[in-house]
Amino acid sequence: MELQIAQTAFRTDIIKGLSSPQKFLLPKYFYNTEGDRIFQQIMQAPEYYITNAEDEILDCQSDEILKTSMQLFPTFDIVELGAGDATKTIHLLQEAVRLGASDHYYPIDISRNTIDYLHTALPSLVPGMQITGLEGEYIPMLQQVPLTKPKLVLFLGANIGNMLPDEALAFCKRILNKGDMLLTGFDLKKDPQKILAAYNDKAGFTKAFNLNLLVRINDELGADFNTAHFTHYPLYDPVTGACKSYLISRIKQQVTLDDGTTFRFEKDEPVYMEVSQKYSEREIDKMAIQAGFKTIRSFYDSNHLFVDTLWQKK
Ligand code: AVJ
Repeated sequence: MELQIAQTAFRTDIIKGLSSPQKFLLPKYFYNTEGDRIFQQIMQAPEYYITNAEDEILDCQSDEILKTSMQLFPTFDIVELGAGDATKTIHLLQEAVRLGASDHYYPIDISRNTIDYLHTALPSLVPGMQITGLEGEYIPMLQQVPLTKPKLVLFLGANIGNMLPDEALAFCKRILNKGDMLLTGFDLKKDPQKILAAYNDKAGFTKAFNLNLLVRINDELGADFNTAHFTHYPLYDPVTGACKSYLISRIKQQVTLDDGTTFRFEKDEPVYMEVSQKYSEREIDKMAIQAGFKTIRSFYDSNHLFVDTLWQKK
Protein backbone atom coordinates (compact mmCIF):
# COMPACT_ATOMS: atom_id res chain seq x y z
CA MET A 1 0.00 0.00 0.00
CA GLU A 2 2.68 2.46 1.07
CA LEU A 3 4.78 1.57 -1.95
CA GLN A 4 1.83 2.27 -4.21
CA ILE A 5 1.31 5.73 -2.77
CA ALA A 6 5.01 6.54 -3.13
CA GLN A 7 4.96 5.33 -6.75
CA THR A 8 2.02 7.55 -7.51
CA ALA A 9 3.74 10.61 -6.06
CA PHE A 10 6.83 9.75 -8.10
CA ARG A 11 4.78 9.48 -11.29
CA THR A 12 2.88 12.69 -10.59
CA ASP A 13 6.07 14.64 -9.87
CA ILE A 14 7.90 13.30 -12.93
CA ILE A 15 4.98 14.11 -15.22
CA LYS A 16 4.65 17.56 -13.70
CA GLY A 17 8.37 18.28 -14.07
CA LEU A 18 8.73 17.02 -17.63
CA SER A 19 5.54 18.69 -18.88
CA SER A 20 6.53 22.06 -17.49
CA PRO A 21 7.74 24.71 -20.00
CA GLN A 22 11.06 24.69 -18.15
CA LYS A 23 11.56 21.01 -17.54
CA PHE A 24 12.78 19.92 -14.11
CA LEU A 25 13.18 16.83 -11.94
CA LEU A 26 13.41 16.78 -8.13
CA PRO A 27 16.74 15.85 -6.50
CA LYS A 28 15.05 13.80 -3.78
CA TYR A 29 14.39 11.19 -6.49
CA PHE A 30 18.12 10.63 -7.08
CA TYR A 31 18.26 8.38 -4.06
CA ASN A 32 17.13 4.90 -5.03
CA THR A 33 19.47 1.98 -4.29
CA GLU A 34 21.63 2.69 -7.35
CA GLY A 35 21.54 6.44 -6.66
CA ASP A 36 22.69 5.85 -3.07
CA ARG A 37 25.57 3.80 -4.47
CA ILE A 38 26.61 6.44 -7.00
CA PHE A 39 26.36 9.14 -4.35
CA GLN A 40 28.88 7.15 -2.27
CA GLN A 41 31.23 7.32 -5.25
CA ILE A 42 30.71 11.07 -5.57
CA MET A 43 31.58 11.49 -1.90
CA GLN A 44 34.84 9.64 -2.51
CA ALA A 45 35.73 11.54 -5.68
CA PRO A 46 38.85 13.71 -5.21
CA GLU A 47 37.03 16.83 -6.48
CA TYR A 48 34.14 16.52 -4.00
CA TYR A 49 35.73 18.33 -1.03
CA ILE A 50 32.48 18.62 0.97
CA THR A 51 32.55 15.20 2.58
CA ASN A 52 36.17 15.42 3.74
CA ALA A 53 35.69 18.94 5.06
CA GLU A 54 32.69 18.00 7.16
CA ASP A 55 34.27 14.72 8.23
CA GLU A 56 37.13 16.72 9.63
CA ILE A 57 34.76 19.01 11.54
CA LEU A 58 32.85 16.11 13.05
CA ASP A 59 35.95 14.03 13.79
CA CYS A 60 37.80 16.86 15.52
CA GLN A 61 35.01 18.97 16.97
CA SER A 62 32.11 16.64 17.89
CA ASP A 63 33.19 16.92 21.49
CA GLU A 64 32.98 20.73 21.38
CA ILE A 65 29.68 20.65 19.46
CA LEU A 66 28.13 18.38 22.09
CA LYS A 67 29.57 20.21 25.09
CA THR A 68 28.26 23.48 23.67
CA SER A 69 24.84 21.86 23.17
CA MET A 70 24.91 20.43 26.70
CA GLN A 71 25.30 23.94 28.08
CA LEU A 72 21.84 24.59 26.66
CA PHE A 73 20.32 21.21 27.64
CA PRO A 74 22.09 18.46 29.62
CA THR A 75 20.34 15.77 27.56
CA PHE A 76 18.51 15.76 24.25
CA ASP A 77 17.33 13.53 21.41
CA ILE A 78 19.31 13.67 18.17
CA VAL A 79 17.37 13.87 14.90
CA GLU A 80 19.02 13.90 11.48
CA LEU A 81 17.53 15.23 8.25
CA GLY A 82 18.76 13.20 5.26
CA ALA A 83 21.01 10.93 7.30
CA GLY A 84 22.32 8.88 4.38
CA ASP A 85 24.74 6.22 5.58
CA ALA A 86 25.49 8.42 8.64
CA THR A 87 29.24 7.82 8.29
CA LYS A 88 29.96 11.41 9.29
CA THR A 89 27.47 11.29 12.16
CA ILE A 90 28.65 8.09 13.84
CA HIS A 91 31.50 9.80 15.64
CA LEU A 92 29.20 12.49 16.97
CA LEU A 93 26.73 9.83 18.12
CA GLN A 94 29.46 7.85 19.90
CA GLU A 95 30.59 11.02 21.67
CA ALA A 96 27.00 11.81 22.62
CA VAL A 97 26.69 8.42 24.35
CA ARG A 98 30.07 8.79 26.03
CA LEU A 99 29.18 12.24 27.38
CA GLY A 100 25.70 11.10 28.43
CA ALA A 101 24.16 13.79 26.21
CA SER A 102 21.81 11.54 24.28
CA ASP A 103 20.54 7.98 24.04
CA HIS A 104 18.11 8.22 21.13
CA TYR A 105 18.84 8.92 17.46
CA TYR A 106 16.12 9.48 14.86
CA PRO A 107 17.60 9.40 11.34
CA ILE A 108 15.19 10.66 8.68
CA ASP A 109 15.81 9.67 5.06
CA ILE A 110 13.84 9.46 1.82
CA SER A 111 15.50 6.14 0.95
CA ARG A 112 14.06 2.90 2.36
CA ASN A 113 17.38 1.26 1.48
CA THR A 114 19.20 3.75 3.73
CA ILE A 115 16.84 3.40 6.70
CA ASP A 116 17.09 -0.41 6.54
CA TYR A 117 20.88 -0.14 6.46
CA LEU A 118 20.97 2.20 9.48
CA HIS A 119 18.76 -0.12 11.55
CA THR A 120 21.13 -3.00 10.78
CA ALA A 121 24.48 -1.25 11.09
CA LEU A 122 24.15 1.37 13.82
CA PRO A 123 23.27 -0.62 16.96
CA SER A 124 26.69 -2.32 17.01
CA LEU A 125 28.56 0.83 15.92
CA VAL A 126 26.95 3.06 18.54
CA PRO A 127 26.15 0.89 21.57
CA GLY A 128 23.91 2.64 24.06
CA MET A 129 22.10 4.63 21.37
CA GLN A 130 18.54 3.66 20.51
CA ILE A 131 17.88 4.02 16.76
CA THR A 132 14.49 4.90 15.32
CA GLY A 133 14.69 5.40 11.56
CA LEU A 134 11.99 7.42 9.80
CA GLU A 135 11.56 6.88 6.07
CA GLY A 136 10.05 9.86 4.30
CA GLU A 137 10.11 13.61 3.78
CA TYR A 138 11.61 15.98 6.33
CA ILE A 139 8.54 17.82 7.65
CA PRO A 140 6.12 14.90 8.06
CA MET A 141 8.86 12.73 9.60
CA LEU A 142 9.94 15.50 12.02
CA GLN A 143 6.34 15.48 13.25
CA GLN A 144 6.74 11.78 14.15
CA VAL A 145 9.53 12.46 16.64
CA PRO A 146 8.18 12.50 20.23
CA LEU A 147 8.26 15.85 22.01
CA THR A 148 9.46 14.32 25.29
CA LYS A 149 12.95 15.84 25.13
CA PRO A 150 14.70 18.85 23.65
CA LYS A 151 16.19 18.14 20.25
CA LEU A 152 19.45 18.56 18.47
CA VAL A 153 18.50 18.40 14.80
CA LEU A 154 21.35 17.65 12.39
CA PHE A 155 21.04 18.95 8.84
CA LEU A 156 24.50 18.04 7.59
CA GLY A 157 26.46 17.61 4.39
CA ALA A 158 25.06 20.74 2.71
CA ASN A 159 21.70 19.01 2.32
CA ILE A 160 20.22 22.48 2.85
CA GLY A 161 21.94 23.41 -0.43
CA ASN A 162 19.29 21.49 -2.36
CA MET A 163 16.94 24.37 -1.54
CA LEU A 164 17.25 27.88 -2.98
CA PRO A 165 17.93 30.49 -0.26
CA ASP A 166 14.25 31.57 -0.06
CA GLU A 167 13.11 27.98 0.27
CA ALA A 168 15.80 27.24 2.85
CA LEU A 169 14.69 30.24 4.89
CA ALA A 170 11.02 29.23 4.72
CA PHE A 171 11.98 25.68 5.72
CA CYS A 172 14.08 26.79 8.71
CA LYS A 173 11.23 29.03 9.87
CA ARG A 174 8.85 26.06 9.92
CA ILE A 175 10.95 23.51 11.77
CA LEU A 176 11.83 23.07 15.47
CA ASN A 177 10.27 24.28 18.69
CA LYS A 178 11.52 27.02 20.99
CA GLY A 179 14.84 26.05 22.56
CA ASP A 180 15.59 23.24 20.09
CA MET A 181 18.98 23.25 18.43
CA LEU A 182 19.87 22.95 14.75
CA LEU A 183 23.32 22.02 13.45
CA THR A 184 23.40 22.86 9.74
CA GLY A 185 26.20 22.17 7.28
CA PHE A 186 26.66 25.01 4.80
CA ASP A 187 29.08 24.83 1.91
CA LEU A 188 30.87 28.18 1.79
CA LYS A 189 31.36 30.35 -1.31
CA LYS A 190 34.92 29.84 -2.53
CA ASP A 191 37.01 29.62 -5.72
CA PRO A 192 34.35 29.08 -8.40
CA GLN A 193 36.59 26.60 -10.24
CA LYS A 194 36.84 24.43 -7.17
CA ILE A 195 33.07 24.42 -6.73
CA LEU A 196 32.36 23.65 -10.37
CA ALA A 197 34.91 20.81 -10.39
CA ALA A 198 33.12 19.18 -7.44
CA TYR A 199 30.01 18.85 -9.62
CA ASN A 200 31.88 17.84 -12.74
CA ASP A 201 34.21 15.11 -11.49
CA LYS A 202 36.58 13.55 -14.00
CA ALA A 203 35.43 10.00 -13.32
CA GLY A 204 31.90 10.98 -14.31
CA PHE A 205 30.15 9.98 -11.09
CA THR A 206 28.06 13.17 -10.99
CA LYS A 207 27.01 12.64 -14.59
CA ALA A 208 26.04 9.03 -13.83
CA PHE A 209 24.16 10.23 -10.73
CA ASN A 210 22.01 12.56 -12.84
CA LEU A 211 21.47 10.05 -15.65
CA ASN A 212 20.47 7.42 -13.09
CA LEU A 213 17.27 9.33 -12.45
CA LEU A 214 16.33 8.76 -16.12
CA VAL A 215 17.08 5.05 -15.65
CA ARG A 216 14.89 5.06 -12.55
CA ILE A 217 12.06 6.59 -14.58
CA ASN A 218 12.56 3.82 -17.16
CA ASP A 219 12.47 1.14 -14.44
CA GLU A 220 9.59 2.45 -12.38
CA LEU A 221 7.42 4.25 -14.91
CA GLY A 222 8.18 2.17 -17.99
CA ALA A 223 9.77 5.08 -19.86
CA ASP A 224 12.08 4.69 -22.85
CA PHE A 225 14.84 7.20 -22.05
CA ASN A 226 18.11 6.58 -23.87
CA THR A 227 20.70 8.09 -21.50
CA ALA A 228 23.17 8.44 -24.39
CA HIS A 229 20.89 11.16 -25.74
CA PHE A 230 21.50 13.44 -22.75
CA THR A 231 24.60 15.24 -21.48
CA HIS A 232 25.31 16.55 -18.00
CA TYR A 233 25.85 20.33 -17.68
CA PRO A 234 26.77 21.84 -14.29
CA LEU A 235 27.14 25.58 -13.81
CA TYR A 236 28.13 27.81 -10.91
CA ASP A 237 27.17 31.46 -10.45
CA PRO A 238 29.61 33.04 -7.97
CA VAL A 239 27.26 35.99 -7.35
CA THR A 240 24.17 34.08 -6.27
CA GLY A 241 26.12 31.06 -5.00
CA ALA A 242 23.86 28.70 -6.94
CA CYS A 243 25.55 25.65 -8.44
CA LYS A 244 22.93 24.17 -10.73
CA SER A 245 23.00 21.02 -12.76
CA TYR A 246 21.12 20.25 -15.92
CA LEU A 247 20.70 17.35 -18.30
CA ILE A 248 20.69 18.61 -21.89
CA SER A 249 18.85 16.78 -24.63
CA ARG A 250 21.43 16.21 -27.38
CA ILE A 251 18.79 15.70 -30.04
CA LYS A 252 15.15 16.43 -30.76
CA GLN A 253 13.41 13.42 -29.27
CA GLN A 254 10.35 12.16 -27.47
CA VAL A 255 10.02 9.90 -24.47
CA THR A 256 6.94 7.91 -23.49
CA LEU A 257 5.87 6.41 -20.15
CA ASP A 258 3.99 3.09 -19.80
CA ASP A 259 0.73 5.03 -19.29
CA GLY A 260 1.16 6.67 -22.69
CA THR A 261 2.28 10.09 -21.37
CA THR A 262 4.69 11.59 -23.91
CA PHE A 263 7.29 14.30 -23.43
CA ARG A 264 8.93 16.15 -26.31
CA PHE A 265 12.48 17.44 -26.03
CA GLU A 266 13.98 19.98 -28.40
CA LYS A 267 17.61 19.62 -29.38
CA ASP A 268 19.68 21.28 -26.58
CA GLU A 269 16.68 21.64 -24.29
CA PRO A 270 17.72 21.62 -20.61
CA VAL A 271 16.17 19.64 -17.76
CA TYR A 272 16.95 21.34 -14.43
CA MET A 273 18.04 18.66 -11.97
CA GLU A 274 19.23 20.30 -8.75
CA VAL A 275 20.74 23.29 -7.02
CA SER A 276 23.66 22.98 -4.60
CA GLN A 277 23.56 26.40 -2.98
CA LYS A 278 26.72 28.00 -1.58
CA TYR A 279 26.68 30.66 1.15
CA SER A 280 28.87 33.44 2.53
CA GLU A 281 29.22 33.75 6.30
CA ARG A 282 27.15 36.95 6.20
CA GLU A 283 24.35 35.21 4.33
CA ILE A 284 24.32 32.42 6.92
CA ASP A 285 24.14 34.88 9.83
CA LYS A 286 21.29 36.69 8.11
CA MET A 287 19.37 33.46 7.54
CA ALA A 288 19.68 32.52 11.22
CA ILE A 289 18.17 35.84 12.30
CA GLN A 290 15.43 35.85 9.68
CA ALA A 291 14.46 32.25 10.47
CA GLY A 292 14.14 33.00 14.20
CA PHE A 293 17.33 31.42 15.49
CA LYS A 294 20.22 32.56 17.64
CA THR A 295 23.67 31.53 16.44
CA ILE A 296 25.35 29.70 19.29
CA ARG A 297 28.62 28.81 17.58
CA SER A 298 30.12 27.97 14.16
CA PHE A 299 32.48 25.07 13.54
CA TYR A 300 34.80 25.32 10.51
CA ASP A 301 37.15 22.83 8.88
CA SER A 302 40.84 23.80 8.87
CA ASN A 303 40.69 24.93 5.21
CA HIS A 304 37.59 27.06 5.81
CA LEU A 305 35.70 25.35 3.00
CA PHE A 306 32.65 24.38 5.03
CA VAL A 307 30.84 25.31 8.24
CA ASP A 308 28.53 23.52 10.66
CA THR A 309 26.52 26.19 12.48
CA LEU A 310 24.83 25.53 15.79
CA TRP A 311 21.65 27.59 16.11
CA GLN A 312 18.97 27.69 18.79
CA LYS A 313 15.31 28.42 18.04
CA LYS A 314 14.13 31.58 19.80
C1 AVJ B 1 23.57 15.79 -0.93
C2 AVJ B 1 22.66 17.85 -1.70
C3 AVJ B 1 24.63 17.86 -0.37
O1 AVJ B 1 24.53 19.21 -3.44
O2 AVJ B 1 26.55 18.62 -2.92
C4 AVJ B 1 26.48 16.01 -5.02
C5 AVJ B 1 24.22 16.29 -3.79
N1 AVJ B 1 24.74 16.29 -6.22
N2 AVJ B 1 26.84 15.99 -6.30
C6 AVJ B 1 25.36 18.38 -3.05
C7 AVJ B 1 25.13 16.21 -4.97
C8 AVJ B 1 25.80 16.16 -7.04
C9 AVJ B 1 24.83 17.01 -2.61
N3 AVJ B 1 23.91 17.12 -1.43
